[in-house]
Amino acid sequence: MSPKNGKRNDKSGDLEAGADRSKPILHQHSREIQPYGKLAKLPIALDEKVCASSVENLNQILADTITLRDMYKKHHWQVAGHTFYQLHLLFDKHHGEQDELVDTIAERIQLLGGISLAMAADVAETTIIPRPPRGREEAPVQISRLLEAHEIILKEARTMAGQSDEDGDDGTNDLLVSDVIRTNELQVWFLAEHLVEVPLVRADQEPAEQPRKVQAKSATSSL
Ligand SMILES: [Fe+2]
Repeated sequence: MSPKNGKRNDKSGDLEAGADRSKPILHQHSREIQPYGKLAKLPIALDEKVCASSVENLNQILADTITLRDMYKKHHWQVAGHTFYQLHLLFDKHHGEQDELVDTIAERIQLLGGISLAMAADVAETTIIPRPPRGREEAPVQISRLLEAHEIILKEARTMAGQSDEDGDDGTNDLLVSDVIRTNELQVWFLAEHLVEVPLVRADQEPAEQPRKVQAKSATSSL
């Protein structure tokens, strides 16, 4: 507050000047410290070419995993029908597991000296998973779409796992096999069983007739 006599209050001036150092410095810009596509090699006893190859492969898997993760959330929100509750929960569980994969893959890219893709626009340009419509779809269509996305990831993960094995990149190989492939395979099972058409209450067919057993004559029958 300014003094009533119009004189400047020196003490308040000191206070204002003293706050300068704790003011946030906003709107800063600079050059990138590492352009995308360039490697910043770390001392992990792996050849630079191997790191570069693994980074490229992992960024493809990362873009596809982010897309699948987001597709799970879309379907979690938009699912409809009498299986709403169980699919709503299952889609969210799988979303969480895919989200953990995203973090594991992205951090391996960084420790290999690369730069992990992160933003939606970059992911959309990179992924090979077909884009779903914005609107709502029937649950069997949602599940089919998810299964197709899983298979795309599994196919590329197996190829890349073989390559990382040949290259001696054990960490990438382990991530692809133990995390990516195993998680995706398990999720495929949980999804695919929803597309098996079985009756809900009453079996729709009589059981096939069982062949009659030939009764062995007992030793006492002739007595
Ligand atoms: Fe939710």
